[in-house]
Amino acid sequence: MFTEILLALVVGGVVYFLVQRSKRHQLKSEDGWWGEGTPMAGEEDLSIRPYTVQTDDEELEDLYRRIDQTRPFPSLEDSQFNYGFNSHYLQKVVTYWRRDFDWRRQVEKLNKFPHYKTNIEGIDVHYVHVRPKNLPEGVTAVPLLMVHGWPGSFYEFYRMIPLLTQPSNPDDIVFEVVCPSIPGYGFSEAPHKKGFDSVCAARVFHKLMKRLGFQQFYAHGGDWGWIVTTNMAQLEPKIIKGLHLNFAPPSKPGLPVVLSIMLGRSFPKLFGFNEHDIQRIYPVVQNLVVESVKESGYMHIQATKPDTVGRALNDSPVGLAAYILEKFSTWTDHDFRNLDDGGLTRKFSLDDLLTNVMIYWTSGCIISSMRFYKENFSKGLDQPHSKMPVHVPTGYACFPNELMHTPKLWVQQKYRELKTFTPMARGGHFAAMEEPELMAQDIQNFTKMILRSQLDTM
Ligand SMILES: *[C@@H]1O[C@H](CO)[C@@H](O)[C@H](O)[C@H]1NC(C)=O
Ligand SMILES: *[C@@H]1O[C@H](CO)[C@@H](O)[C@H](O)[C@H]1NC(C)=O
Repeated sequence: MFTEILLALVVGGVVYFLVQRSKRHQLKSEDGWWGEGTPMAGEEDLSIRPYTVQTDDEELEDLYRRIDQTRPFPSLEDSQFNYGFNSHYLQKVVTYWRRDFDWRRQVEKLNKFPHYKTNIEGIDVHYVHVRPKNLPEGVTAVPLLMVHGWPGSFYEFYRMIPLLTQPSNPDDIVFEVVCPSIPGYGFSEAPHKKGFDSVCAARVFHKLMKRLGFQQFYAHGGDWGWIVTTNMAQLEPKIIKGLHLNFAPPSKPGLPVVLSIMLGRSFPKLFGFNEHDIQRIYPVVQNLVVESVKESGYMHIQATKPDTVGRALNDSPVGLAAYILEKFSTWTDHDFRNLDDGGLTRKFSLDDLLTNVMIYWTSGCIISSMRFYKENFSKGLDQPHSKMPVHVPTGYACFPNELMHTPKLWVQQKYRELKTFTPMARGGHFAAMEEPELMAQDIQNFTKMILRSQLDTM
């Protein structure tokens, strides 16, 4: 009798320990409701509605009138992009926008992939859903969710989508891709209530994927997409088969990161640092205050008073374009600040850049997109998710011109199942848009590795 009780206690203890341990690794969140007013009683609307991006004469006439009334202001001599978007070059962009840019054609291009909307937690969530065409018999597509950031949109992925859904190499995996707009961005409705942060976005996207019938899937993200997909992995680790990221600065530097910063220059091998790591980390560390203040003014504004400056941007297409495209210059390459044209067309076409601006302009989403910073920062940096490691197989694409360089050791501190870490040949913060081939390849390589390791353990 005694031994049986003892056995029961031991087994119970082990079970309790395992449950507690798995709980610690899983983020909690409660359902929210973001619609106007109080939630309506009755059935939830679970319908999925096809959506078509539209435009009309009125929208274009209004845009042109505002563009024509812009009041140019001269840039300082030889200031390039160092004081913000260069005014002389802005005039050129505006002229192109007014005379050559064809929004109707771009709308057609946007509608090349099927769009949908569905209501989740009281707001309409927009997404692009691309199923592979002509899937060979016996081949199943691998579902992949891709999440954009700020000041980007689902359009960041447009060049990458066909590379994933119709790969040219027969050995490649065929993906089925879902690219949602974060609520408050693009064609997703903005939350009407305070508090919609990255964990809420993660929960909403889990609900979206469940509604679409996916039991398990892969997820990719950079910028906000990084935190949102990371939170998804923390909320439901069993559902995310693999997490692929191209941005992941340490949100809570632990001892190994601190030690690596202190000693990494003298003992680089000990921390796995290469020449590029040293070149990127130490100039920033040595001037930490100056370097971190230089490029983060926008963040401070958006995390505190988004509605004030946002109102000006929502009235002025030229101001909006300057605000958004300045980031596409500097975040693609810091040295582009010293070019008269911000290097914008070295990596992107004006058509693609202005299409992204037009998604913000026509949907009128700049204010709600900026609020996402406020919601994410106002609860403090010490959120459960920022301390919690991730136990989902992870792949990291390390682009050389990324805003904040993150060496492998730092990524590993958070992502305990880091399976691939690829130093990429070229590219910056908007890597999916700038280097779609490279990004798609890295997603292929990462996913193949996960699938292989699953076969091995079977
Ligand atoms: C906001 O994002 C930062 C990382 O950029 C993170 O450390 C922090 O915990 C987040 N806050 C919330 C409330 O999600
Ligand atoms: C992906 O793997 C292939 C084959 O091993 C390799 O040639 C290629 O460089 C890899 N691509 C990336 C972006 O890592």
